[in-house]
Amino acid sequence: MSTTTEARSNPLATIDWDYVEFYVGNAKQAAHFYMSAFGFDQVAYAGPETGVRDRVSYLLEQNKLRFVLTASLLPDDAIAEHVMRHGDGIKDVAILVEDAQAAFEMAVRGGARVVQEPAPLEDARGRIIKATIATYGDTVHSFIQRDGYRGIFMPGFAEQRKTIANAARPHLQYIDHCVGNVGWGEMDVWGDFYARVFGFSQLVSFDDKDISTEYTALRSKVMTDPRHQVKFPINEPAQGKKKSQIEEYLEFYRGAGVQHMAIRTDDIAATIRALKSNGVEFLDTPDSYYEMLGERVGKIDEAIETLRELRILVDRDDLGYMLQIFTKPLQDRPTVFFEIIQRKGSLSFGKGNFKALFVSIEREQEKRGTL
Ligand code: FE2
Repeated sequence: MSTTTEARSNPLATIDWDYVEFYVGNAKQAAHFYMSAFGFDQVAYAGPETGVRDRVSYLLEQNKLRFVLTASLLPDDAIAEHVMRHGDGIKDVAILVEDAQAAFEMAVRGGARVVQEPAPLEDARGRIIKATIATYGDTVHSFIQRDGYRGIFMPGFAEQRKTIANAARPHLQYIDHCVGNVGWGEMDVWGDFYARVFGFSQLVSFDDKDISTEYTALRSKVMTDPRHQVKFPINEPAQGKKKSQIEEYLEFYRGAGVQHMAIRTDDIAATIRALKSNGVEFLDTPDSYYEMLGERVGKIDEAIETLRELRILVDRDDLGYMLQIFTKPLQDRPTVFFEIIQRKGSLSFGKGNFKALFVSIEREQEKRGTL
């Protein structure tokens, strides 16, 4: 079968990220946090004023990133129950597709559980087709087809622009990858899921010899679409002397869910300066990391001094190198966080940094008494 035929027969061959929907306890305050700390602008709103009775949603944008922050107005609907069980978290990693019906049918043939059959959402600006399938835990993927829609986001939303003028602009660009934490022994199950349901292939995998410290361990594999546009790494805990960060997540999130989203920038030093000045907190890295850095990664464009000052990590593979740093958890429970990443040719996920990074995460776990 030729590549062209393959692309045509796979409705998910040309997908992209569409939006990420968070279910939160207080969407108004969460929206303010992501605007003031991460430099998003509010673009649209849905709620009682726009004819939506049971919930409010704020659409935030920054370059190609689109976040929807949704909270329930009821004590006992699915959103309220999701927040009660999981805390604030990521509910829907929505995917832009050319044909939502075809994507949905392929997903169902691959064994995906149906959350919502393809359905048109219409207003005066046209029509969106949305279908939703379940993935790990209570997380879902919606397939969004937008070719018939000229509105700002989606029916139910009204344009409502707000900007926090004095927030520093980090110039975050788009999602690089979105990582799920799943339970013991479930990594292969969910890797197979993305192969069957999305037609994805495995980009890379790491076992517990790659990703372990003296105390904790995990295993991971990265599933990707043919264009490496949408990448879903899947983590599972592995046996260590103490409780791994994945187990801590599973305990606090009460099951599988999105662990982190990696967000691309093309100037990581300027981005991290802006985020820090807005009060975003990052994991620290031991000083010793920078003493060995030049030797480990060879020649890079950035000054090691700048990386040390900002605690940015570097990893190299045969295609180039990448720079990355991780935020602390974004809500009360130690669950979802962001990675900020700049790629200079490299397709790496930071294997060379895992050890330095986990030592740092363990220090935070120790403070919470969960190690
Ligand atoms: Fe990552």
